[in-house]
Amino acid sequence: MCGIIGYMGHRKASSILLKGLKHLEYRGYDSAGMATLSSKVEVRKDVGKIAELEKRLRFEEMEGEVGIGHTRWATHGRVTKENAHPHFSQNKKIYVVHNGIIENYQELRKFLKNNGFRFYSETDTEVIPNLIQYEMERGKNFEEACKAALKRLDGSFAVVIMHEGEEKLIAARRGSPLVIGVGDGEYFVASDIPAFLEFTKKVIFMYDWDFAVITKNGIKFYNLKEDREVERSIDVIDWDAEQARKGEFKHFMIKEILEQAETIQRAIMQDEDIVAAIVEEMKKAKGIFFVGCGSSYHACFAASYIFSKIANLHVNVMLASEFPNFKHFLTKETLVFAVSQSGETADVLEAVRAAKEKGSKVISITNVKGSSITRYSDSFLLLNAGPEICVLSTKTYTSQLALLTLLAYAYAGRYEEGRKRLKYLWNVVYNLTSRTSREMIKKLAEKLKNEEHLFVIGRGLQYATALEAALKIKEVSYIHAEAFAGGELKHGTIALIEDGTPCMVFVSEETEKEIISNAVEVKSRGGYIIGISPKNNDVFDFWIKVPECGVANPIVQIIPAQILAYQLAVLRGYDPDKPRNLAKSVTVK
Ligand code: G6P
Repeated sequence: MCGIIGYMGHRKASSILLKGLKHLEYRGYDSAGMATLSSKVEVRKDVGKIAELEKRLRFEEMEGEVGIGHTRWATHGRVTKENAHPHFSQNKKIYVVHNGIIENYQELRKFLKNNGFRFYSETDTEVIPNLIQYEMERGKNFEEACKAALKRLDGSFAVVIMHEGEEKLIAARRGSPLVIGVGDGEYFVASDIPAFLEFTKKVIFMYDWDFAVITKNGIKFYNLKEDREVERSIDVIDWDAEQARKGEFKHFMIKEILEQAETIQRAIMQDEDIVAAIVEEMKKAKGIFFVGCGSSYHACFAASYIFSKIANLHVNVMLASEFPNFKHFLTKETLVFAVSQSGETADVLEAVRAAKEKGSKVISITNVKGSSITRYSDSFLLLNAGPEICVLSTKTYTSQLALLTLLAYAYAGRYEEGRKRLKYLWNVVYNLTSRTSREMIKKLAEKLKNEEHLFVIGRGLQYATALEAALKIKEVSYIHAEAFAGGELKHGTIALIEDGTPCMVFVSEETEKEIISNAVEVKSRGGYIIGISPKNNDVFDFWIKVPECGVANPIVQIIPAQILAYQLAVLRGYDPDKPRNLAKSVTVK
């Protein structure tokens, strides 16, 4: 995954691009670069994080009011300066930043080599500027050459392209996100809104196959599939630029964890009529699927228990990447819920497409209005959590849970009761994220920071929380954490418990008796028991008190685990906002 940005206006492009890239760094952070246009095009790029490259490459010295920038998460080609973007054509006139994958790049590379082109990187991207040069050498102007070149590409991508000597940016997308920011006499184009949020809230979401020609005088849109000019409207988003800044916090992760008292409330502020219409669809449906990836999948998984309990409704939960194996069960009467923070995850998008092909209805739950998944859905609900910058999902996970819980209540005809119960969480979450609570969890992190393995158990709703807690810990602290349903550990994995092996145990009133007996099984083999529970128990070596919240337990119990994961990462010297090998939004399959 990569982050791309372009700017055209009246300010110094390099400063705008640099700010934007810092906001996009969550999408990739192994190398970065930019190109700006003044009398000539200048390119600076290298391996490293943006803050370091800013000092080393002194981006801000770069002149010009038009430019493009990129932050990379390597997919095709190693992490080297040559593979960093922007990439340029053989004649050094055409400059491209790209996010996504060109599936037929080997064939195109061969074609271009046969036509005398040389390649300097191992990337798939480099075929793009060269194909454009190829088309221009055959008489097409820059715009027409870009159209012709892009039509030859297979795969999913978003690109911003610049040509020396023309005050113009070409932006195009197919499968990867790209959004345009409309300012006063200036335009921004980026993979995600926070990249330009401090300058404008007016945005144009580009559609697949869209091709935009951006000049200082305005934007023209074409759709390359339909081969015609199209209109795209401006949306005004209600995200606040402040939300996309770290402010007094050291990391976005902790900032976003602390926002949860508020974001959970925003998630349940939904239009009642839309919720009622969705409930109607659910009642009509013959078969309901919940699909998602990563934390969103865990939210779906928790929701399956919640719907079972509150609404007496069975839903099928599926990892989006595994969904194709079951798509032959889809009919016109099936309802598919696509749950995705970004609304851009390729596996989820694929599931949505499969459902639409079979005539099934799709409802999405995302945090990004205008994202591809919302657009392909029949209807959607927004999490309203504001931008989530840390690669790890925290606030959007609890928002998904809150919203899905509200839906379950609505299905059961108890919408108001559900809203009230969820509103009451404000106080609980506020206390769980307080300084005292964080300090207490820090002590636990100190104790655990050198561990290699950790187990997490829970039953019922707490099993879903265990899965998410283990994911949080491993993705950010790199400690191997594994979750089990309480009853399952004894069927094999208990063999791994040794003296001092930490085991987190999520307890609720309903599951107390059985899960405590599972904890005792672990303790008897030497395990160190961390209880996340409303009540203390002799078996706990460390107790984190979380009040009993019934079906809302998954929302509140995950919070100490998020804080623990954060503290572990910091104590072990890792950057919690940008864990190795991960990207916030995975737009490749
Ligand atoms: C990536 C992220 C995860 C996230 C998953 C699904 O793998 O690293 O944190 O849960 O994608 O993302 P989505 O945007 O679809 O919720």
